[in-house]
Amino acid sequence: MKSQNPTNLGRVSIILVLACCTLLASAELHVREFVIEAKPVKRLCRTHQTITVNGQFPGPTLEVRNGDSLAITVINRARYNISLHWHGIRQLRNPWADGPEYITQCPIQPGQSYTYRIKIEDQEGTLWWHAHSHWLRATVYGALIIYPRLGSPYPFSMPKRDIPIILGEWWDRNPMDVLRLAQFTGAAPNVSDAYTINGQPGDLYRCSKPETVRFPIVPGETVQLRLINAALNQELFFTVANHQLTVVEVDSAYTKPFTTNVVMLGPGQTTNVLITANQRPGRYYMAARAYNSANAPFDNTTTTAILEYVNAPRGRGQVTPVFPVLPGFNDTATATAFVNRLRYWKRAPVPLQIDENLFFAVGLGLINCTNPNSPRCQGPNGTRFAASMNNVSFVLPRTNSVMQAYYQGIPGIITADFPPVPPVQFDYTGNVSRGLWQPVKATKAYKLKYKANVQIVLQDTSIVTPENHPMHLHGYQFYVVGSGFGNFDPKRDPASFNLFDPPERNTIGTPPGGWVAIRFVADNPGAWFMHCHIDSHLGWGLAMVFLVENGVGQLQSVQPPPLDLPRC
Ligand code: C2O
Repeated sequence: MKSQNPTNLGRVSIILVLACCTLLASAELHVREFVIEAKPVKRLCRTHQTITVNGQFPGPTLEVRNGDSLAITVINRARYNISLHWHGIRQLRNPWADGPEYITQCPIQPGQSYTYRIKIEDQEGTLWWHAHSHWLRATVYGALIIYPRLGSPYPFSMPKRDIPIILGEWWDRNPMDVLRLAQFTGAAPNVSDAYTINGQPGDLYRCSKPETVRFPIVPGETVQLRLINAALNQELFFTVANHQLTVVEVDSAYTKPFTTNVVMLGPGQTTNVLITANQRPGRYYMAARAYNSANAPFDNTTTTAILEYVNAPRGRGQVTPVFPVLPGFNDTATATAFVNRLRYWKRAPVPLQIDENLFFAVGLGLINCTNPNSPRCQGPNGTRFAASMNNVSFVLPRTNSVMQAYYQGIPGIITADFPPVPPVQFDYTGNVSRGLWQPVKATKAYKLKYKANVQIVLQDTSIVTPENHPMHLHGYQFYVVGSGFGNFDPKRDPASFNLFDPPERNTIGTPPGGWVAIRFVADNPGAWFMHCHIDSHLGWGLAMVFLVENGVGQLQSVQPPPLDLPRC
């Protein structure tokens, strides 16, 4: 080996000094203004005054690095109250920046503003942001991409190009009116008129063809697709004709890579896949359509975009893109097989000793009416739709947020008596007697000690219909340690839990007529919403709140609220 001469050594140390300084200087503060305003948006032949951020639909993509901070000033120039949620960001000790209205803040009223101050701590991958106020997230959403710290590697070979693909759901009318009508009648809201890819329905819809999204790709190139399901009410299958997809990340947590033809995402979930242009030069559709696990009406249309090889024949020789095979709408076997293949990329620090063993029955319900012929009782057999967790149908407070009430000790907003198990045990997935269909409306939370090891079994019920409920927990990432069909068996099922490399997520679907078990450490104090990410179910009450207590000292306690926190 040749010994290094002094000049080389000098150069090396200069490089080291530079490297260390760029690392220290690399944490950035991203200052942005998000103006909420109605703007004309034309889709499916008609123009609607659509609620947007900065006039954009979908909204702006935020690109940051692990360790960065954001200061996003939201200015509400629309006619609705609004709040924004940064889906999947942990917001450690800072629930004030989380966003769900009446949970961690009062909504931002028209003419008002609020600055979300967010710190990205030990998170990287694909997340997103969306309105957390009634049905405004139908059009108010965007991607939030967190790159690793400068110089920190990916656990897989990361392609040069990265394409965010946001799947959405479009109504050919004001989504707030769709919600308002459903709230009045008590019936299920109208299903959407289209799904969208990056805001565009694609070739298969009326008046949409010229705007279909095209992704050029170089033969031999590998790109990463960052898939986000921003649809309001629908699980979706996603596929690309003739191409394999290699899954590398879900919900901002890396996975052991595996290849698949189809991805299933519930509302709220994200999935990163690698795709290589290794097919005949040509044009290939990527497509998404419903995975519908419920016995209920749904939007059965298909959204498409085009993967276009740059050397594909053009002009006269141009052929129509190859269309992929999509699973059947009710193909639970394919959805389940996909989800069950997910594994954390390395050994996961899963909590092993459980302090809080919770069992939540989740599902729909019906509220009986004294006058079933009333125009307000147009649900099944003259009822109103509802949904619940452990028979509590969650009602949002109106006069303050849960977090403010918790922090300031204001009584009468929420009670901490959410039941750890269903008040009545029954055969959850069997033929449930009608007497158990009606939940109780209330605003209840469950208290957790700081650093408690928590397990929750989420058990779907067959009340009204069994269904995949994409359950989202704010403020946390959790491990999905097990799942199955039918009723959870506390004696037998834990034996099959994966405590080695279970996938880490922030949103997990209950198998329809089945259960899923999650674990996490309650290390983030505050009021954290847990709810079904299907907005129609959320509105019917499929939600609860965790109140996580402070630990010892400032570093384990909720920060003081910001001065501009909106008032109710
Ligand atoms: Cu992405 Cu409470 O939601």
